[in-house]
Amino acid sequence: MDFKNEVVELIASQIDLPKEKINDLIERPKNAKMGDYAFPCFILAKTMHKNPAEIAKSIAENLSSENFASIQAVGPYVNFSIDHGKLISSTLKDVLDKGEHYGDQELGKGNVPIDMSSPNIAKPMSMGHLRSTVIGNSIANTMEKVGYTPIKINYLGDYGTQFGKLIAAYKHWGNEEDVKKDPIMNLFHYYVRFHKEAEKNPELDDEGREWFKKLEDGDPEAVKLWKWFREVSLKDFKRIYNELGVTFDSYNGEAFFNDKMQPVIDELRDKGLLHESRGAQVVDMGPDENPAIIVKSDGTSIYLTRDLAAAEWRMKHYNFVKMLYVVGNEQAQHFVELKTVLKKMGYDWADDIHHVSFGLITQGGKKLSTRKGNVVFLDQVLKDAVSLAKKQIQEKNPDLANQDQVAHDVGVGAVVFHDLKNDRLDNFDFNLEEVVRFEGDTGPYVQYTNARAQSVLRKASKVGKKPADNDLALDDEWSFAVAKDLADFPRIIARSADKFEPSVIAKYALDLAKKFNKYYANVKILTDDNQIGARLALVQATSIVLTEALRLLGVNAPKEM
Ligand code: ARG
Repeated sequence: MDFKNEVVELIASQIDLPKEKINDLIERPKNAKMGDYAFPCFILAKTMHKNPAEIAKSIAENLSSENFASIQAVGPYVNFSIDHGKLISSTLKDVLDKGEHYGDQELGKGNVPIDMSSPNIAKPMSMGHLRSTVIGNSIANTMEKVGYTPIKINYLGDYGTQFGKLIAAYKHWGNEEDVKKDPIMNLFHYYVRFHKEAEKNPELDDEGREWFKKLEDGDPEAVKLWKWFREVSLKDFKRIYNELGVTFDSYNGEAFFNDKMQPVIDELRDKGLLHESRGAQVVDMGPDENPAIIVKSDGTSIYLTRDLAAAEWRMKHYNFVKMLYVVGNEQAQHFVELKTVLKKMGYDWADDIHHVSFGLITQGGKKLSTRKGNVVFLDQVLKDAVSLAKKQIQEKNPDLANQDQVAHDVGVGAVVFHDLKNDRLDNFDFNLEEVVRFEGDTGPYVQYTNARAQSVLRKASKVGKKPADNDLALDDEWSFAVAKDLADFPRIIARSADKFEPSVIAKYALDLAKKFNKYYANVKILTDDNQIGARLALVQATSIVLTEALRLLGVNAPKEM
């Protein structure tokens, strides 16, 4: 039951204000003694020619509802106190009835392509790509939960002049066996070496350019090497996606749009948007902005042009209602240009494009950079997280079955959760020990709380007790705190979907876990009295919601740990 909605309805039956307005005005009193909701009457004084306190009094006198223990005027406010027993029982019933579908809603529908992860071939996937992957994945899950059809697109960085350099480097120092053994690592080393040696020997750069030209012209050897690099790199990336449990609906990367850029350039010219500036073809961005470059002075087209082609192609193929780009905030200007140019081309759907940007991950306060060799290898991070998790499990629960599977869920889940619990725009520091702790604001803490709930249910079932499905009114304050959180879940999901902000769900999961642990510490759940079924229902409902919240974040919830 949505109590706030009922407050809106009740107030609306008494006064002449639109419901949305009433909804916005409703407050949550700080002091619980003042009720759970308060409606301030100041705004009505003018039209009703009475003072706010009189208005509050007359509204309160006319209202009654079985869901509220009291509705009364206090000064200029109408205060509503929820019937705690009612809130608890109706919420628990709702969660148990709907199970994992609790919180499903239809806020919209239609295709929503999500451009996410998009690492660059032949380079290690960076922490930034990890962020894009897990944020994008969680947003996809959440959009689906509220009615949309997400389409997860991995726009691989699989084309560009760097591949000319890579081929040249491979021809000098590479060999097939090494690449097969550890593709990303070795290709990356060739690439780094190329840059180092090119500083002393500029001829290398010419070679790189020649190889790129060959690639563009379809030279069989160049094309074969490029395809091979792409294939082995992708296989490496897929290993990481597998670990994370993330899948994609499309791998149409940059190369896919090679033959789709010229039509866009022609279109821009036909629409009179293109003009020359210092040898380049550009589109004006407005009086105080630098123009957006479409074709460089050497005739090569660039990142933006490709993204224009990709956006048009996606509109044609997916007829999307929104499109999201989950990309770090250092590319903010690029997406401003993308939207502005599309808008100038006459595409109103440019307004449905959102750059879902995010902050940096630092380590020891320092920026990570692939180019400077200051890299973190994600494989390694995940492996380390899993073995740390395993160590903790062995200490806490040495007899646990499926230790490896649980350690995997906890270790990987910890890294994912840590990434999602901060507002996505915030920068944050990465410290593995911190991430994998079972206490504090971590993923393992939430997982552990869920496993604790499951363990209570197992113990109960051993003595023949199970969650009740009616008479669920509990009367202690800890149950009420948990139930209030449970009742909030649908709204939390809606807010997360609206803001493309997984942290809303992660913070909620932490809060619910804390409330449940307080309940667990203060209430003897398994005492055999006539409320045991109701208490178990609360335990079950909590586990359902924690599990679903974690699923939306892309984190598994082991039943035992
Ligand atoms: N490959 C790019 C990079 O690593 C990210 C691509 C983002 N997506 C896009 N459509 N531009 O920086």
